[in-house]
This record gives sequence, C-alpha cells and structure tokens, in this order.
Amino acid sequence: MSQKIASARISQKSSALLQDLNNSLPFDKILYKEDIEGSQAHAYMLCEQGIISKEDYEQIQRGLAEILDEVESGIFLLDGDDEDIHMAIEGRLTQKVGDAGKRLHTARSRNDQVALDFRLYVQNNTKAISGLLLENIVTLIKVAEKNAEVMLPGMTHLQHAQPINFGYHMMAYASMFKRDYERFMSSYERNNYSPIGCAALAGTPHNISRQITSDKLGFTAPTLNCLDTVSDRDFALEILFNISTMMMHISRLSEELILWSASEFGWVTLSDRHATGSSIMPQKKNPDIPELLRGKTGRVNGNLVALLTVMKGLPLAYNKDMQEDKEGVFDSVRTATLSLQVLEEMIADMTVNVNQMEKACMIGHLSATDLADYLVKVANLPFRDAYHITGDAVNLAEKKGLDISELSLEDLQSIDGRIGEGVVALLDNRASMNARISEGGTATVRTLEQVESLNGWLDSKIKI
Ligand code: ARG
Repeated sequence: MSQKIASARISQKSSALLQDLNNSLPFDKILYKEDIEGSQAHAYMLCEQGIISKEDYEQIQRGLAEILDEVESGIFLLDGDDEDIHMAIEGRLTQKVGDAGKRLHTARSRNDQVALDFRLYVQNNTKAISGLLLENIVTLIKVAEKNAEVMLPGMTHLQHAQPINFGYHMMAYASMFKRDYERFMSSYERNNYSPIGCAALAGTPHNISRQITSDKLGFTAPTLNCLDTVSDRDFALEILFNISTMMMHISRLSEELILWSASEFGWVTLSDRHATGSSIMPQKKNPDIPELLRGKTGRVNGNLVALLTVMKGLPLAYNKDMQEDKEGVFDSVRTATLSLQVLEEMIADMTVNVNQMEKACMIGHLSATDLADYLVKVANLPFRDAYHITGDAVNLAEKKGLDISELSLEDLQSIDGRIGEGVVALLDNRASMNARISEGGTATVRTLEQVESLNGWLDSKIKI
C-alpha cells in the first residue's frame, strides 16, 4: 500500500532489506496521535482556505477520528510494511474515505509533517517532564523542612568540611531541579513554533494559512523560514540536553544516596520498596534504584551525542539521516519520565538516620573555621594568621584524640592567649552551623528561608 502512495518513480518492488533499513514505522508509530492531530489541523486549514471542499474535509475528519479509535483499541496495529507513521495513516485514511483521503497531502510534505509530529511530541513531553520535576521539588522541600535542624558533615573532596543541615543539602538538589524546570520551559517557549505548511523545503504555491494551523495546534506562531524548519532538529537536541543535565543532577543525588546507605555512612535507609536483595547473600539489601538512575544517565548522554553527531554534517534541507533523530529522543523521554517518578517515591519514603548523621559531625574538626573566624572578628587578626593558629588547635585535638569542639578553654588558650571564654560555645557544631547566616547559607533559619522562597515559586507554577 505504501509503495503505491509514494513511489511514482520507482518501478521495482523494494528489497526486503531496504525496507528493514528504511522503514521507521516500527518506532515512529508512537507518534500516531500527533500525526492524526496534525492532519486534522492541516485538513481544517485546507478547507477554511477553500483548497478542499467541505465534504472532503468532513470525510477526512471522520476517517481520522476512526483511525484514532482503531489504533487506541488495538484494531489497527500499525505493524504493516508502510514506510512510516505518516504513510500508514494516510494509507488507512484513503482505504476508508477514498479520494478525500488522497487530497489530505495537498500543500504538505512528509518533511514538514514529520517536523510537526516530532515537535508536538517533544513539546508535550517537555510539559510532562516539567510537571514531574515540580513534584520532585515539592517532595524535596518537604524533606528539607523536616530536616532543617539535622546536622551532617558538609563535604568538599568527599572529606568532612563544615557542619550543614540535611534540609540544606536537600535544598541544593531542589535548586538544581528548579533550574532544570526552567530550562525545559525555556526550550518549550523557544520551540513553540509551527512547522506545518513548509511543505518539502520551499513553501507551496497553494493559498494556505500557516497561521490557522499554528493557532489550531496551540503554537505561538508559524516558523519564519521553511528551509530551516524542515532541517531543524534543535528542539530535539534541546530536550536531549535538558534531560541529560537533569539526569546528571539525579545521578549525583543517586550517588550520594548510594554512599549514605552504605554501612560506612548509615545516614539514610532506603525503604524496602526501593531496595533489592542478592541472589546469593541473604543479608544484603542493595540500592539498585539509585544505581540504575546513575547508570541511565550514561544512556541519555549517549542519545544526546548520537543526535549531535547525526546532524553535524548535513546539508540543507531534509536528509534521510534525520530519521535517526527519533529513537534516542523516545528513549531519553521514557528514561527521564520513569526516573523522575521513581526518584520522587524513593525520596519521600527514605528514612533519615539522624543519630548517625550527627555522630559523623564529630569526625573531622568541622568547626575549625569558626576558631579562625573568631580570631579575625574578636582579636582582629589577619585571616591567614588566624588560620595557622587554628591549625595548631587542630593538631592538639588530634594529639588528644578529640574533635576540636571537645577542647577545653585551657587547651585552646595554651595555643594562643587571645582566645577568650566564648570560644568553646562557638566551636560546638550546631553553633557553627547556625553561625552561617549569610544569604543562602546553611543556618537553620536560612535553610527555612530557602524553603519558603522555593515554596512561593512553586505556588506560582502549580497554579498555572
Ligand atoms: N520517516 C521519515 C523521518 O522520520 C519521514 C520523513 C520522510 N521524508 C522524506 N522525504 N523521505 O524522517
């Protein structure tokens, strides 16, 4: 059937191998809804412009609506030897409504048709992923608010550095997801232009209205230049990049969850719903979910690099290489969607082991910087001198097998006479954490301020 629709110059039957290589129906059939929606809008416009008759339009609409039902109820399986989803649906339509179906492709090419279908798919999924990101932000904020007083060692180089609170740590990820959300939405705005009506590459002599189809499909406006439009896959690259960046954030969080649930840390316990066992070691509980999220990041990065590579040498306009644009995007979208769903559940269900986290704060002299800051503030020492005196205090604590926060006033004064009475209280880890009250800092009050600020932002998004 597809051979008949679009092979005016081809006299021999295609080789079976060509069909295997060439046909995209096995994977682009997931675009059936977008393809039908695009055809409905195109037919509507053709009728409005007097290019097809009202009768033909009505038959096309009826036929397309029936095809949608047939696909969704599993009657039309889209498993024939049609070259792609566009051919499959046009062929079925023509079977159903005859000549009216053959008029649908007036002023249209598969080049603008695929650009439209794929863009609609990307736009729809951009919105869906953005919604899931908001749900993850809501959950992270809840965990953050609940744990704004729970201390853990903040790290650099994976070495204990300064005391922070767990809420603050969660708010760091909430901030990343906010940027991810904004990145998706900015791509949505930038790419919300209608490709249909560009035809093969040069526009069409028919008196079409691209404004009508654009309005009907919810785009901001028609694209500016048809040659660009049929060769443009930036919108697909953008969703791939946005997914890769988001998955990189998910992967870093996953990495921390894996570390924190190891017995060396014991800071969090993932719920049994999100852990698996070992087939040989009955005692084991493995963090497979965060490991998979971390692993899947490699896979989405591959999809991004693959499409960048496909596109890099192509002359304008459409080239069949571009059919390679879809599977990676479908895969990344599926991966991102599932990853966000599972991440949200896992974060909501995990147990924070407060005692273990706080105990870890007694390792590594986390409040050492506070002694240096004290000497700068109270004794007016240059920071570098204060830094060296503090180093001596750390060495003394090490020698005594203590944490710097456990040194007595006498111990501290034996190092430098300018160290006064209030210092011991300052070196307490909680005091140290709460001393970091500069904007965006870790003090509990500042963390709660961050929670409030992001909640305000969320309200404005969720209401829309
Ligand atoms: N299946 C094709 C694709 O996904 C549709 C566009 C084909 N256009 C063409 N002129 N061969 O890219």
